[in-house]
Amino acid sequence: MTPKELKIAAAREALGDVRNGMTLGLGTGSTASEFVKLLGAVLTDGTLRDIRCTSTSLATAELARSLNVPVFPLAEIAPLDLAIDGADEIDRDLRLIKGRGGALLREKIVEQQARRFIVIADESKVVDRLGIGPLPVEVTPFAVDVLTRKFAAMNLQPSRRMAGAQPRVTDEGNAILDVMVPASRDIADVVADLRDLAGVIETGFFPREATDAVIAGSGGLRRMRRK
Ligand code: A5P
Repeated sequence: MTPKELKIAAAREALGDVRNGMTLGLGTGSTASEFVKLLGAVLTDGTLRDIRCTSTSLATAELARSLNVPVFPLAEIAPLDLAIDGADEIDRDLRLIKGRGGALLREKIVEQQARRFIVIADESKVVDRLGIGPLPVEVTPFAVDVLTRKFAAMNLQPSRRMAGAQPRVTDEGNAILDVMVPASRDIADVVADLRDLAGVIETGFFPREATDAVIAGSGGLRRMRRK
């Protein structure tokens, strides 16, 4: 199966947990987009009905509306029955790194409003240790330059997230600094240090938000559940 087929398989499995009348949080990224497309199809053909959704990004809201998936402001429909989203890295304790698509702040806000949060991913996202790739950190624009220096002094190798030639601006109007978690340190300790710094708004470390995961691999689908 291609990576795209694996994403669709995970999304289809998670769709099986959606029931008529639910309130849903829609994630951001290529895997979450496959879920939104499948949801649009079953709402259109009437297999599911009375679903109300909220979105973790402007991009997903636009995709959802284009497929006649109803999108509401978060506060109108929270708390949510279920959130469904992708992830960049998943460890065996269902801790995540998210935000390489830039939507980490709204994702964390929405997913903390959900009674259940199912992560959908292909098996390449499952890691032994979180921090194989960068950890996104959303920072307020006023602090970007001084925090870049500070993160460098903390041995975190910061780099400013770009969108082409321009710095990336999040849906909340902030900047993203991608940092590398040193192999000698646990990500939770690094995140605690980051959160002490004024100007750090949120990080892409999701220690306890996910309740379930659907992982699609060449051998089929498997589920993980928070213990
Ligand atoms: C968006 O900000 C991210 O958290 C995505 O959920 C994550 O990057 C996974 O994206 P893909 O499904 O495109 O890999």
